Amino acid sequence: MRAVTISGQHGPGKLSLGDEIAPAPRTGEVIVQVAAAGVNRADLLQRAGKYPPPEGAPPWPGLEVSGTVVQVGPGVSSRRVGDQVVALLEGGGYAELVAARETQTLPVPAGIDLVDAAALPEAVCTAWTNLVDTARLQPGEHVLVHGGSGGVGSIAVQLARALGAHVVATAGGPERTASVRDLGAHAVVDHRREDLVDAVRDATGGHGADVVLDVLGGAALPANVRALAHGGRLVVIGLQQGRKGELDLNALMAKRAWVTGTTLRSRTASEKAALVAAVGQHVWPMVEDGRLRPVVHARLPLAEAEEALRTLEDGEAFGKVLLLP
Ligand SMILES: NC(=O)c1ccc[n+]([C@@H]2O[C@H](COP(=O)([O-])OP(=O)(O)OC[C@H]3O[C@@H](n4cnc5c(N)ncnc54)[C@H](OP(=O)(O)O)[C@@H]3O)[C@@H](O)[C@H]2O)c1
Repeated sequence: MRAVTISGQHGPGKLSLGDEIAPAPRTGEVIVQVAAAGVNRADLLQRAGKYPPPEGAPPWPGLEVSGTVVQVGPGVSSRRVGDQVVALLEGGGYAELVAARETQTLPVPAGIDLVDAAALPEAVCTAWTNLVDTARLQPGEHVLVHGGSGGVGSIAVQLARALGAHVVATAGGPERTASVRDLGAHAVVDHRREDLVDAVRDATGGHGADVVLDVLGGAALPANVRALAHGGRLVVIGLQQGRKGELDLNALMAKRAWVTGTTLRSRTASEKAALVAAVGQHVWPMVEDGRLRPVVHARLPLAEAEEALRTLEDGEAFGKVLLLP
């Protein structure tokens, strides 16, 4: 089969399309013929040699796909050959075929195009687990979604809105700001020209954000803490502005607020299975009735994986970039 591999052991790697041995299903796995693979920022880190895949996963990138089941392994009970599915992967999605744990697959939601469905697994699982499991977002609360224009943020905005929250998001520039409003954000802060704390205060009638979903990390920490409401919860899921930042513990204590962070990739198979099941139960109905849709910036052929990563790296993408074998 064809797959996009990373060459170069030292310094930034280069992606190239080549022939690899097709995967065989292990117990509990299905083989998916890939219709599309979602491109993620983690793939940029993996190409740079800074995000090694876990043991047993293929060495090439790709954390999510949509496609058709072409083979089932021993012990698989809920998926059959011919099923159209999405899958959350440990890696290896940039290929024609990939092995996925049955428990990390879901049927393609009714009414969603098979290719576009590849934009869902990673972003929906990330948005759900952080907004609901971790931050315990409640209807009527104010949530600040950083990067409402991004792959994760474009889904988080829609999900938070569907959960009944008042959604404030950030985006860079007037066009992206307008597009995030179209996704359902009640207010959008242009981070290129507005002060975050003032803008959040205005957008929430002086209350502040009960929940902040942050993709920036270090340098954004002080402003994020200032933007929190009393009892606010700040969940860091991305480190685009660094691993370290200054935390004003006095502000945290005075607000009885808390700060935490999570990653998807480090979770165990059973944790991922539980998350995927929860997404199937709670979020798939929202996709099927139109409250939440995949946001696709571009569909590119697998051979253009370098260009796909560049689009993400340069901040051009609005929503997800997909690679098609
Ligand atoms: N922890 C996890 O489990 C998990 C899972 C998935 C992703 N992530 C991480 O989450 C982050 C976002 O992923 P993604 O797929 O959404 O990436 P993406 O599609 O490239 O989006 C990046 C977002 O960051 C925003 N941004 C950049 N600079 C900003 C600034 N100064 N202020 C506010 N927003 C800014 C961009 O907004 P504009 O372009 O409009 O400026 C854009 O919306 C990445 O770091 C990724 O690694 C973590």
